[in-house]
Amino acid sequence: MSVMTQFISIAVDGPAASGKGTLARRLAEQFHLFYLDSGSVYRAVAKHILDLGKNPDNPEDAVSAALYVRDHLTTEMIDNPALRNDIVADATSRSCRFPPVRDVITETLRFYANHPPVSKHTKPFQGSILDGRDIGTVVCPNADVKLFLTANAKVRAERRFKELNAKGIETTYETVLQDMQDRDARDSGRETAPLKAAADAIHFDTSTMDVDTAFEKAVEVIRQKLA
Ligand code: DC
Repeated sequence: MSVMTQFISIAVDGPAASGKGTLARRLAEQFHLFYLDSGSVYRAVAKHILDLGKNPDNPEDAVSAALYVRDHLTTEMIDNPALRNDIVADATSRSCRFPPVRDVITETLRFYANHPPVSKHTKPFQGSILDGRDIGTVVCPNADVKLFLTANAKVRAERRFKELNAKGIETTYETVLQDMQDRDARDSGRETAPLKAAADAIHFDTSTMDVDTAFEKAVEVIRQKLA
């Protein structure tokens, strides 16, 4: 039996509600990898801007919030349920487009990707897995495995609508679809680090493939890499 000793780095990218978070979490568990949701870090930046009553469209406000998040990042900060609402999501896609903000957060993400936290109580991580929009292209261009998830906007809006409904948040499917299309356009259309598949990414279309199948295929690819 082969023993896995090498550090493995995995990048998972895709638009909102493409299933990348679910897939990345399952892979992290399967291979004992440190998982970091980079969208939550960008959301923490936007929340800090909003908490201070500042403007997510102002590059100076956005950069000072990015520096704050870099210097105070904790698990509690990125697990905060208050990051998950549509006001923060909208402010995130505005504030994250400024190149100096991306530089600060990219460095932070890269640091954690290469140096997963160590705890006395658990065995060291085998590597790291990050999900986002530019992990395979910018943050970890040398990742061992790059996955790119897509799904058509209607399927993604339906998923997000159900999630919001389950949380008791009142909205309509049409509003969710419109917000998602606006956010997709900003995330894909910005000049710096837009949502884009790396040339060597493996594509999964989750509008036609369920998450279990995507997970099994990804496990197979990673096992081949580790063999
Ligand atoms: O994945 P999410 O919905 O939590 O991401 C929130 C926003 O952050 C989204 O508008 C895209 C942006 N983002 C980004 O620009 N780059 C990343 N690596 C991750 C997220």
